[in-house]
Amino acid sequence: MYETKSPAPRRIMSGARPTGRLHIGHLVGALSQWAAYSKTDETYFEVADYHALTTGYEKTESIEANVRELVLDWLAAGIDADRSVMYLQSRVPQIAELHLLLSMIVPVAWLQRVPTYKDQLSALGGEIATYGFLGYPLMQLCDIAIVRANTVPVGKDQLSHLEFGREVVRRFNNLYGDVLVEPQATLSQFPDVPGTDGRKMSKSYGNAIDIADDDATTVKKVRSMVTDPLKVRRNDPGRPEICPVYALHTVFDAVREGEIATACRAGTLGCVDCKLQLAAALNASLAPVRERRANVDPASVPAILEAGAERARAVAATTLADVKAAMRIG
Ligand code: TRP
Repeated sequence: MYETKSPAPRRIMSGARPTGRLHIGHLVGALSQWAAYSKTDETYFEVADYHALTTGYEKTESIEANVRELVLDWLAAGIDADRSVMYLQSRVPQIAELHLLLSMIVPVAWLQRVPTYKDQLSALGGEIATYGFLGYPLMQLCDIAIVRANTVPVGKDQLSHLEFGREVVRRFNNLYGDVLVEPQATLSQFPDVPGTDGRKMSKSYGNAIDIADDDATTVKKVRSMVTDPLKVRRNDPGRPEICPVYALHTVFDAVREGEIATACRAGTLGCVDCKLQLAAALNASLAPVRERRANVDPASVPAILEAGAERARAVAATTLADVKAAMRIG
């Protein structure tokens, strides 16, 4: 059902909520692919500040800094700032207008049965049981539909949102004619990257290595990583297949992963050495990313986003005009 490629020409759109600095799991899982797309395809990358409000409406003072850090991480990852369109969601007001129009045709039950809604509601409690939070996947569809994107690279946690969005598009097109494009999700082929505690790397678990960390911080974090609990002494044989340090070796040190697995199993490689080797490999592969980040003036971010918003608004205005004409509104 989820093809890895849509027929050309692809118009690619994705986004992220501004929640702070990104980590190396984001880099491997999404950003390096976005960067590649930005050089070959038409790409739209959106900083979803409205979406950030859905779960963080009572604490908005950090949004501005988070937007800046997010865009710096995007540029660090190699997204081509000239070819791709990067913008802030709230600077493209056509998204909000489309959201209102589509809200008329979306059954509440469709939104209530999106799995992330139920999960987040029970995880975060009644404070997020707002109208806006219920509409989260519809707003996401509007982000995609307003620029008529056909291809949406996302993580698997977002597939239910895409499936919901496709249903909304089909409903709209059935009611009013073929105006909106049905978007296709594309999944990254990379597995989840483990964090320092062995769970999935996540900012909220406090187990992340950030893209913007310096070399010394990276070494420190890698040294704190959990390893095979049965490998207590240096010469004990270890089980690379259950070790998060080894999992990161396979991603960032792929040429030596076989050698490391063999030495670990044979008990000839201790965990401390193995970690130091990983930290060195990580720092080497992140060096160009970190260098790009250091070379971007943070003060230039608002202008980059505004130039993107101008381009996004031009496309969005056309879509919205078509939607309103089809609905005979305005
Ligand atoms: N909901 C997405 C996430 O949490 C972020 C997002 C907002 C998005 N709008 C989007 C992703 C549009 C893809 C397309 O990761």
